[in-house]
Amino acid sequence: MKSLGVGLIGTGYMGKCHALAWNAVKPVFGEGARPRLLHLAEVSADLARQRADEFGFEKSTGDWRQLIADPDVDIVSITTPNQFHAEMTIAALAAGKHVWCEKPMAPTLDDAIRMRDAARKAGKVAVLGYNYIQNPSIRHIDKLLREKTIGTVNHIRVEMDEDFMADPEAHFYWKSASSSGYGALDDFGVHPLSLVTTLIGPLARVFSHQAKPYPDRPLKEGGRRTVETYDIATTLVEFENGVSGMIALNRSAWGRKGRLGIQIFGAEGAIVFEQERMNEIQLYTLKERDTERGFRTILTAPHHPPYDKFLPAPGHGLGFNDLKIIECRQLLNLIEGKPAVAITFEEGVEIERAVHAMARSHAEQRWVSPKE
Ligand SMILES: NC(=O)c1ccc[n+]([C@@H]2O[C@H](COP(=O)([O-])OP(=O)(O)OC[C@H]3O[C@@H](n4cnc5c(N)ncnc54)[C@H](O)[C@@H]3O)[C@@H](O)[C@H]2O)c1
Repeated sequence: MKSLGVGLIGTGYMGKCHALAWNAVKPVFGEGARPRLLHLAEVSADLARQRADEFGFEKSTGDWRQLIADPDVDIVSITTPNQFHAEMTIAALAAGKHVWCEKPMAPTLDDAIRMRDAARKAGKVAVLGYNYIQNPSIRHIDKLLREKTIGTVNHIRVEMDEDFMADPEAHFYWKSASSSGYGALDDFGVHPLSLVTTLIGPLARVFSHQAKPYPDRPLKEGGRRTVETYDIATTLVEFENGVSGMIALNRSAWGRKGRLGIQIFGAEGAIVFEQERMNEIQLYTLKERDTERGFRTILTAPHHPPYDKFLPAPGHGLGFNDLKIIECRQLLNLIEGKPAVAITFEEGVEIERAVHAMARSHAEQRWVSPKE
């Protein structure tokens, strides 16, 4: 089998995660040919060379267009800030490359649709960085729901909270500018949306409220700048199958480091998951006598695939970067024509429609359908 030539654009937080995944996917899963880490792009030639040496890439460039023009690159990881995703992915797809692009697709719905159309036209695989759906715990929750372990689901509540913007004196940076999108809605909201649409189904309508806890922030170079994005967003949701729910987001929630809390309630039980304890599922069912009923903790283990690909021992736990390795393998499955768990640009556009419906709901103070 031919080895895929990998290009990586951007080497910050997510760039490193993609690089680790590309390095680890073969040793973890064993399938297919080992990807060839071929070309890396950053904002300057010096930074690109330094990162290429650290991450194990052969070539480097300070101009991402050179990477896309490289005939040996078969697939491009795009891990730059949101406003560059459309231009970079569309160029990569037009050059006949597969794409693995970080979420969200783009700040505007028009650009997200252009990205999806470019993927359709190119006939290439285009997958988004929705790592949380890859967690063996989440996959098991999905199985429990399909097996009706908690009966018919009637309500889901998802809360995503972090505190990297909690300090009023945290610097203004690209996530504070409207060029990145609305704020918590597209930075965070897309993750809960990837989870709820996977676990429950399509949304019928949403009612949202966004908030800015701090009106301005200091600039690194001195002075202050008005914050253009909302760090908080709260949304009531209703699914096409009648399930009700809520998605609450806060990037300025002191004490919350990587919280993605999910509660699912059914007619015969409940399931609770916390991303900060990502190897555990809490399950409550009616199978026990009511004198012994209570939530019990299920620890992920080799019988929760694909945990078994990482470790033979139960309860040792996977981490965030492992989710990216699983996502990378799913992307390769799609390229190899195999079944995969992935959010492609097709499903990604539906998530973007939901985000824009939420923003419109806030602006117009009414229920909005993502299909409007
Ligand atoms: N999937 C997840 O859980 C997750 C988590 C965090 C961020 N993200 C997404 O990943 C993307 C990047 O976020 P991040 O936190 O890694 O940002 P970051 O600021 O840490 O890294 C961005 C990198 O892109 C580089 N870059 C910027 N412009 C470039 C250009 N023109 N050419 C080449 N390189 C360029 C920057 O120098 C930087 O190294 C965003 O879209 C974000 O929403 C996803």
